[in-house]
Amino acid sequence: MKKSYSYITTPIYYVNDVPHIGHAYTTLASDTLARFKKLQGCSVKLLTGTDEHGQKVQKSAAKAGISPQEFTDKVSQTFRDLALKMEILPHDFIRTTEERHKIAVRALWEKLEQAGFIYLGGYEGWYSVRDEAFYDEKELIDGKAPTGAEVEWVNEPSYFFKLSAFQDKLLEYYKNHPHFIGPQSRRNEVIKFVEGGLTDLSISRTTFDWGVKVPGDESHVVYVWLDALTNYISALGFPSTDTSDFQNYWPESVHIVGKDILRFHAVYWPAFLMAANIPLPQTVYAHGWWTNEGQKISKSLGNTIDPLTLIDQYGIDSVRYFLLREVPFGQDGDFSTQSLINRINSDLANSYGNLVQRVLSFINKNCGGILPSPGALSEEDQDMISLAQNQSDELSKLMDEFQIHRYGENVWKIIHRANQYVDEHKPWALKKDNLERMNTVLYVLCEVIRQVAILTLPLLPKGSAKVLGLLNIESDPVTLDDLKEPLKPGTPLPTPEGIFPRV
Ligand code: MSP
Repeated sequence: MKKSYSYITTPIYYVNDVPHIGHAYTTLASDTLARFKKLQGCSVKLLTGTDEHGQKVQKSAAKAGISPQEFTDKVSQTFRDLALKMEILPHDFIRTTEERHKIAVRALWEKLEQAGFIYLGGYEGWYSVRDEAFYDEKELIDGKAPTGAEVEWVNEPSYFFKLSAFQDKLLEYYKNHPHFIGPQSRRNEVIKFVEGGLTDLSISRTTFDWGVKVPGDESHVVYVWLDALTNYISALGFPSTDTSDFQNYWPESVHIVGKDILRFHAVYWPAFLMAANIPLPQTVYAHGWWTNEGQKISKSLGNTIDPLTLIDQYGIDSVRYFLLREVPFGQDGDFSTQSLINRINSDLANSYGNLVQRVLSFINKNCGGILPSPGALSEEDQDMISLAQNQSDELSKLMDEFQIHRYGENVWKIIHRANQYVDEHKPWALKKDNLERMNTVLYVLCEVIRQVAILTLPLLPKGSAKVLGLLNIESDPVTLDDLKEPLKPGTPLPTPEGIFPRV
């Protein structure tokens, strides 16, 4: 059988500031999708990293009174630490200041130049350092960028990329690849933007020097977005494209990005790739933005949310589950401590945790800690056992469509049904007069718990691995095929412990 591959990328984070909840969200969503691909049996590569060049970072370094290199080394490490703390899948972490990346950026530039898509001119117009983006006069709102960022007038020599030559090609591509951009509403926005006409893009700067030098003209540094976007292929060894990494992973690449940076990924990046004759990534999917208790998150409002503190307080699984389950992926969401606590208590402690705890401690106390042998299975028992198995295709489809919250919703329906089954069949009452039936009910429940634990591994990697451990099962490697590998009666089970405590 042909091995399947999956390459999931997060945006690379600007190192002008410490990580906040938005960064954690993008990474956790990407990690969840990557873990699901692993469950599907794919060989998975998850890429994250830091975006370290450009005027914004140079300014922040100056403000901190240290050299840009020293500054970026320091801040990049905080993003690496966050990735570690979030226990994301073994991944590659790329920094744009690494030599492997700079080589790739120069190589891409040369390809664009050789293909005739770069020319020297002058840029005169608005630039926002915060967004690292050029804006048209007509895009400004009350003298500011549409994002609310300050803009400044720039007038300098600049190399341009002939973006205007790609309007039709991009539109054609979007039409022929309906799943290239998601969600649908964002796809429509991108199409509208491109239909509105594309002007050539300034791709170099001369008024500062913190960047990759333009090949053949060291007075320019490459525009930070052309530099940054290249990370997705530099991590696969570009400019070599005949390596197994590039050949296997690039065609399966999925870029997870925030809605604010979709234009760079869905317009500029594909145009650069087309110009350089490199195949396009498979999908660019944009998620929404979090507010904090109804307010836009910003440093000036002093309401940023530190993911490290949250993780210390509630544990990584809870934070991760909340962020991905609370809000439909692709839409904006509002963070509140109360809704986080509600989620933890209702879904994790009262539903999932309670199911595991009541069944396993009953077995521990009443069956000598040995998984009981089932007697004859009723139709209802059979249905319970196949509940999760029968949904595996449907669940895969939801994840493949980035509907992470609905995936969670459907798995929790199984958990609710299992809790109902406990209440209806009352193993504690069967213990008095029908041990065989009690054993059957307990076995069926353990089987459901096992399947639920497998299905929730992408959402709750730590907790569900522990649940599998309580059933004496290794959690790695596990694939969806294992849903159909039933538990062996007679297996000794470790002493159960509470896994999802109430807050
Ligand atoms: N460096 C660029 C990306 C280059 S990718 C080739 C960048 N970096 S960033 O650090 O500013 O933002 C990274 C991600 O964090 C973006 O996807 C952005 O949408 C996300 N978030 C920042 N604030 C956010 C929220 N309040 N909510 C959700 N995500 C948000 O852009």
